Amino acid sequence: MPLKIATIIGARPQFIKAAAISRAINTINQNDGSPLIHQILVHTGQHYDRNLSQIFFNEMEIPQPHYNLEVGSGPHGRQTGLMLEKIEEVLIHEKPDLCLVYGDTNSTLSGALAAAKLHIPVGHIEAGLRSYFRQMPEEINRILTDHLSTWLFCPTNTAVDNLKKEGINKGVYQTGDVMYDSILFYSQKVKAREHELLDQFQIRAGHYYLATIHRAENTDDPGRLTEILAGLNAIASSDCPVILPLHPRTAHYIKQHRIFICKAVHLIEPVSYLTMIGLEKQARLILTDSGGVQKEAYFLSIPCVTLRDQTEWIESVQAGRNRLAGASKEKIIQAVTEPFAQQNIRPETYYGNGHAAEVILQILLRPKDSV
Ligand code: UD1
Ligand code: UDP
Repeated sequence: MPLKIATIIGARPQFIKAAAISRAINTINQNDGSPLIHQILVHTGQHYDRNLSQIFFNEMEIPQPHYNLEVGSGPHGRQTGLMLEKIEEVLIHEKPDLCLVYGDTNSTLSGALAAAKLHIPVGHIEAGLRSYFRQMPEEINRILTDHLSTWLFCPTNTAVDNLKKEGINKGVYQTGDVMYDSILFYSQKVKAREHELLDQFQIRAGHYYLATIHRAENTDDPGRLTEILAGLNAIASSDCPVILPLHPRTAHYIKQHRIFICKAVHLIEPVSYLTMIGLEKQARLILTDSGGVQKEAYFLSIPCVTLRDQTEWIESVQAGRNRLAGASKEKIIQAVTEPFAQQNIRPETYYGNGHAAEVILQILLRPKDSV
């Protein structure tokens, strides 16, 4: 009997991570002749706009979910509670051997909690990340998910150390980062389209900044959001505009608070993964509060300014390629202006060799009593 895995996903970064695992499952199944793994994909429906969800399934050839729970948006308790209820039903029906969850969203916590309560072992991909800032909803989701998990797949050594500090030593594996797997694979695919993207957005390679903002601590605080956008207004010019694919959460608050955005800051709809990495590759510099985008900047050797007061991804900061500017206009201007360290330590030093997904699956395929 193949190993039956229920994969719980729901938000944009989880589709990108799940793409790497789904590809590796295909490879393992094809190599073996008879399938070793049977994956049931469960989409909670946390993200539902085409540009935040379906576009990734089409472009990255992720199998269509077996279930879409259509939970949608809502306050934390309601969203998490609805997911818990609906995921539990699916797990009772499907009886998987294990449940896989990714990252730190409400979909992650609900999946882990539903499975653990049913005594279904949980594998957490991107385990051990910590900001040590409990105001972040993601920090609560991470801590709880890690403490519920049987397998803790850590992308970095820092993550392994963080778990040790909480007394978690069993089931911890440093596997490398599945997002590095994804970027190695898909950045080959985007090469042919890179020039076209410049035309599409009317920009020149090396003559634009790429920015993303969506973290609740920034968007939901009008003071922080206004400062960040003032920083982007200040660095943007006709020679070097800011391209800002706008998360709906951010769009909502910009409108609500009527925050001024200058002409050289180009607001665009959220883009597909291939478009995003094409834009990242050719940017002069990236400004972001996203965890995934910080890492991608490092993978692609593009300097990064992080619009947060702390980061879980400290490796690129230590390497001198990522700077924390918080939500301060002055710090943003300074961080963009001062030269960055030239030497780029190879991503492999921190994030694995681009085969994290295969490593994770081989661990899951080991006999149960070897965990
Ligand atoms: C969620 C995750 C965050 C992750 C991010 C990835 C949590 C607590 N947060 O944040 O960790 O970094 O996804 O992008 O799980 N909305 C739409 N269309 C959609 C989805 C959302 O318009 O398809 C709007 C709704 O107004 C919603 C708001 O965006 O209230 C926030 O969505 P939500 O899923 O709650 O959190 P994100 O900010 O997307
Ligand atoms: N991303 C994308 N389109 C966008 C913005 C981001 O495809 O318009 C990708 C980005 O390249 C990265 C991932 O989404 O792979 C990061 O997700 P997000 O910033 O939403 O969440 P986080 O990583 O902070 O949890």
